[in-house]
Amino acid sequence: MAMTLFQHVRQRHTPELAALITAIADGAATIERRIRTAGLDDILGAAGSENVQGEAQQKLDVLADNTLIEVLKALPSVAAVVSEEDEEPVIFEGRPNAKFIAIFDPLDGSSNIDVNVNVGTIVSIQALKPGVSVREAILQPGTEQIAALYVNYGPSTILVYTAGNGVHAFTLAEGEFLLSSEDMKMPEQGPYYSMNEGNIGESQLVYGKAISRFRDGTLVGGKKYSSRYVGSFIADFHRTLLKGGVFLYPPTKKAPNGKLRLLYEANPLSFIAEQAGGAASNGRYRILEIVPTEPHVRTPLIIGSQSEVAAIGGLISISP
Ligand code: AHG
Ligand code: MN
Ligand code: MN
Ligand code: MN
Repeated sequence: MAMTLFQHVRQRHTPELAALITAIADGAATIERRIRTAGLDDILGAAGSENVQGEAQQKLDVLADNTLIEVLKALPSVAAVVSEEDEEPVIFEGRPNAKFIAIFDPLDGSSNIDVNVNVGTIVSIQALKPGVSVREAILQPGTEQIAALYVNYGPSTILVYTAGNGVHAFTLAEGEFLLSSEDMKMPEQGPYYSMNEGNIGESQLVYGKAISRFRDGTLVGGKKYSSRYVGSFIADFHRTLLKGGVFLYPPTKKAPNGKLRLLYEANPLSFIAEQAGGAASNGRYRILEIVPTEPHVRTPLIIGSQSEVAAIGGLISISP
């Protein structure tokens, strides 16, 4: 049998980190089971509440959030969690030896749930060092991440993680995540660009030259591009990791600092991108070096193959 996720992490890292990543994977396996039959269990559609982002929470957003908080609360090594779906951090009191903060997007791509398109879970793990408050530990830059992972609930359910020793993928089979790819490398240049072209008018100003160069094939050495946009960040990123190219979410009128959130979308996937030989910037700075001011801060995002991220960064006339 292929290596399990716990065995893989334990070979390279501490038992606590292996236990933490495995617990998150168990939570994801529970979420996956609920997603598979969501249409029969009345857990599709809106929950009737709004999150701190001003988004209408979907029932599965709330279910996924509760599932992850429950599995993480059961681990004494976890001091607190930050979730897209909860305005304030959830702090687990009375844990003097806790080592980790888990920061997550419990369900990414909520707009795709009801139409049976890939959705995901994204987790960033930061260290809680002695003498540092939980709040300070939450607001560390992405360079300090201990590990990052995402789960892509699709035709297969695939978990991709890095803990600083390369990027590795596991496929869910009979409730267990088994190793399916090791040391994944993102192509240095790729055939796809991925953005919400409905924003093109607004993004034109900041990314105008880059977008026209995708279209006329002059962005990177005459390479012709195809457009691919799923609308679930984890699905657009997973394709970019495997096939190359670039995903971009520029600033728009509605989201002047970009739509994607730094702590639980941009940082974890930028860590994975860089570990796989790719890159991630906000158009001016490396994503992982941005120092967050508050847990739900947003950032413009250009993430993917080195060639495209560099070419677009060089073209942006008005850096966000
Ligand atoms: P979430 O469902 O966690 O709120 O994230 C949705 C994000 C991301 O998954 C995706 O890339 C982006 O929203 C799509 O935004 P648009 O619909 O504005 O293109
Ligand atoms: Mn959301
Ligand atoms: Mn998301
Ligand atoms: Mn979400």
